Amino acid sequence: MTTMCRSQVCNPTMWPSGSTEGVSPAVVEGGKELVLSDQQLAKYMELFEENINRGLGKETNPTAIVKCFPTYVQHLPDGTEKGKYLALDLGGSNIRVLLVELGTAMNINSKVFTIPLSIMQGQGTLLFDFIADCLIGFVKSNNVEEELPLGFTFSFPLVQKGLKIGILERWTKDFSCPGVIGNDVVTMLQDALERRGHKKICIAAVLNDTTGTLMAAAFKHPRARIGLIVGTGTNGCYWESQQKAELFDEPDSGSGKVIINLEWGAFGDDGALDFIRRSYDEDVDLHSVNPGKQKHEKMISGMYMGELVRLMAEKFTKAGLMFEGRGSVSLFTRGALESSAVSDIERERYGEFTNVKRVCDSLGLTHATREDYCNMRYLCSLISRRAAQMVAAGLSVLMRRVGHKKVAVGIDGTVYKFHPHFHNLMMEKIKDITGDEFDYSLFLVEDGSGIGAALLAAVLARTQQL
Ligand code: GLC
Repeated sequence: MTTMCRSQVCNPTMWPSGSTEGVSPAVVEGGKELVLSDQQLAKYMELFEENINRGLGKETNPTAIVKCFPTYVQHLPDGTEKGKYLALDLGGSNIRVLLVELGTAMNINSKVFTIPLSIMQGQGTLLFDFIADCLIGFVKSNNVEEELPLGFTFSFPLVQKGLKIGILERWTKDFSCPGVIGNDVVTMLQDALERRGHKKICIAAVLNDTTGTLMAAAFKHPRARIGLIVGTGTNGCYWESQQKAELFDEPDSGSGKVIINLEWGAFGDDGALDFIRRSYDEDVDLHSVNPGKQKHEKMISGMYMGELVRLMAEKFTKAGLMFEGRGSVSLFTRGALESSAVSDIERERYGEFTNVKRVCDSLGLTHATREDYCNMRYLCSLISRRAAQMVAAGLSVLMRRVGHKKVAVGIDGTVYKFHPHFHNLMMEKIKDITGDEFDYSLFLVEDGSGIGAALLAAVLARTQQL
């Protein structure tokens, strides 16, 4: 039996996802190219599998697009972890510092710091100085006197040379600090701490947010073997056999397995996904900070979802199909539609237009008609359904690789958390694809990337790898 173990944000009184009720036929027609057929998803899965095999192979990895980085993590939490740990979570526009105490219950104390854009795109040393200041400030205000192990979640493509060595391969999302690519981010953080005369923090491991999410998921659920993020960016990790991870030539530490950080955001950077990419995807890519890169991520994640909807609405308006052919300055302005608006529009009670009206009004589209509202909601559902179905197809590939009949997937990220239909769309599509092959559950792991970092430090303490 397949379980739905996520507290649902979706409720049956909402407009069903993809409903064409009230949508103008021309918009349905114009949006057809965004609807994925079973054949297209099957091809997507075949290509994804090929990409994973290339990433894992020693010979093929240098030219592989989906890098499949071995994380050096070979043990999952078993629920017996104990002690006090620090965690640092960097991945979006915030840094989160956590103090996690594991015992009979889990106690978490944490603080979020916003990273100014000038730091996200300024010199690398400034970024690490900023991180070190946040960390030291937090440790002081929490009166942490003892030397605690720290798990450092750094959610960008890292080539790991060990648990404590992570070389930045490239920046993704909105980051572009010079002077970090090619360097070990653990050393850079240690240096920044030393510049401040702070020697009391021992960095136990560096990890990706997907790994953190899988660690946090496994702490709660013994069958968790896949970690996923669908938030600002998107990526996945899974539990692979050590033999298949050809780049990972460490002695077997007992499990015979290793977590692989796929970096699946890059899937399609060689043109492999051009058969389903559309003009809107091209446009988003061309105007991003990293054109030609992260093409898969740009079709799925929260950083781009709102813009994809806006571009469609702009095109349909200019073609006279929406808003009586009259747009607004905002509708024609890049970045004016946030992805959170897409979730809001789709979280509308059936028969109502409150949220969609609010979004249209905020874009200056006060002349919108009821048909425009239906059209807008339909565009949102086209973009989110495509994203959810791609993620579901990717997950189906990963479930087959893990090869367990019963498997749980831990998921974090704002899109999964706040979009009212994302979870159900994924559940349905995985069922369509895999039938009765698996007994699977997908569940939300809140703050998995931060808590998971502390849990990794705890697992290393338990398995004496600290
Ligand atoms: C981007 C990063 C990746 C991260 C993902 C989700 O794709 O490259 O490392 O896991 O975003 O935050």
